[in-house]
Amino acid sequence: MIPDHYLFDTFHGKRIHLGVTGSIAAYKALDLTRAFLRLHIQVGATLTDAARKFVTDLSFGALGADPLFTDMFAEGMNYDHLEPAVADAFVVAPATANIVAKMANGLADDLLSCQLLAYPGPVLVAPAMNPRMWQAPATQHNWKTLGERGVGRIEPDCGNVACGDTGQGRLAPVDEIFIRTLAALSPQDLRGKKVMLTLGPTREYFDRVRFWSNPSTGIMGACLAIAAALRGAEVTAITGPVELALPAMIRRIPVVSAREMFEAAADVFPSQDIGCFTAAVADFRPPACDIGKFKKGGAPLALTFEPNPDILATLSGSKRQDQQTIGFAAEAQNLEANASSKLARKNLDLIVANPVDEPGAGFASKTNRVLVMDRHGRQESWPQLPKTEIAWRIWDWILMNTP
Ligand code: PMT
Repeated sequence: MIPDHYLFDTFHGKRIHLGVTGSIAAYKALDLTRAFLRLHIQVGATLTDAARKFVTDLSFGALGADPLFTDMFAEGMNYDHLEPAVADAFVVAPATANIVAKMANGLADDLLSCQLLAYPGPVLVAPAMNPRMWQAPATQHNWKTLGERGVGRIEPDCGNVACGDTGQGRLAPVDEIFIRTLAALSPQDLRGKKVMLTLGPTREYFDRVRFWSNPSTGIMGACLAIAAALRGAEVTAITGPVELALPAMIRRIPVVSAREMFEAAADVFPSQDIGCFTAAVADFRPPACDIGKFKKGGAPLALTFEPNPDILATLSGSKRQDQQTIGFAAEAQNLEANASSKLARKNLDLIVANPVDEPGAGFASKTNRVLVMDRHGRQESWPQLPKTEIAWRIWDWILMNTP
């Protein structure tokens, strides 16, 4: 299952071609096909003879893959054999040791290897094989060669493989292959930029098992982190406690409390070009306490909360001229006035304000409705949109307004 926050709807009309080779993991290429088609990306596929021992071209066709290729001399073949050359990216998943070797050595003895040899665009390869075959010096040499030629390499995972061995050789997770392919289809307009994000809630414990927090899921921040990474940025996400998948291309620093988030952000931010602060940080924390669990005894529990550091105000207040900061404002009323005051008070380049008491906006929703405002007085209200779409537009805005 591809998580919803990976589903960026900006690839309509793009075209990918999928090469499927003979592996027990070949059925996962069907999940991949379905995920691309969900984003209205056109998918073509070529199955080798060995792949067809595991999956059928009928299954790919039934999902909507078109064109479909099998063997070079199939009767009734209506397509030009090298037609995948017009695709925007060519993904080989799963890739056997055999196809990796053919690609590295320029062999073209079946339809898929001919198509790959003739293909001029970006190629991604996700191998799946027995761990000893993967570790074999010949395979490792071929793999290195593909890297030197600029092929996108998606390393296999470690674990048990179908033949009972354990080690590196399992096909990488489908969502990783999916996101790497989206990156190959994305404009690389944030390449060379380092972006740090804070996301999710913080937890402030008042005994060892209970805490003060808020309902942030981290989705808004994750969408921004993924959009930036797809567009070529080097991304570090400082994540409060959230159950949220992030692609391997994002460096993740998990934290729990506001003070931990502050320390991590203060450490990372000086080396960054852009800081984007989407976290819902607890403004106050209960007193430090080492009690296992407060017992109820009839008397009220009175705790005096201390203010937490304002991470954004502190880091943005002392940022360099070449750094940019994006803040968020979670508002229950006076969206515009409060956002404008936070933009100035926290020395921001851009603020994104969202109403947190409106259905389909703010916390824990797949959609949001925002008002964006920058330090030059530019302002726009966007209608309710998926958070993925809002994230993409925020980076468009930043790029449009960066000299
Ligand atoms: O995570 P989701 O479920 O997807 O929900 C998204 C969201 C509603 C959490 C997100 O869109 C959002 O509004 N994030 C900011 C929440 C917030 O704390 O807003 P604020 O108005 O209280 O803070 C203003 C800014 O200062 C924010 O950028 C915040 O990250 C930052 N801040 C606040 C307090 C603090 N101690 N340190 C901070 O860095």
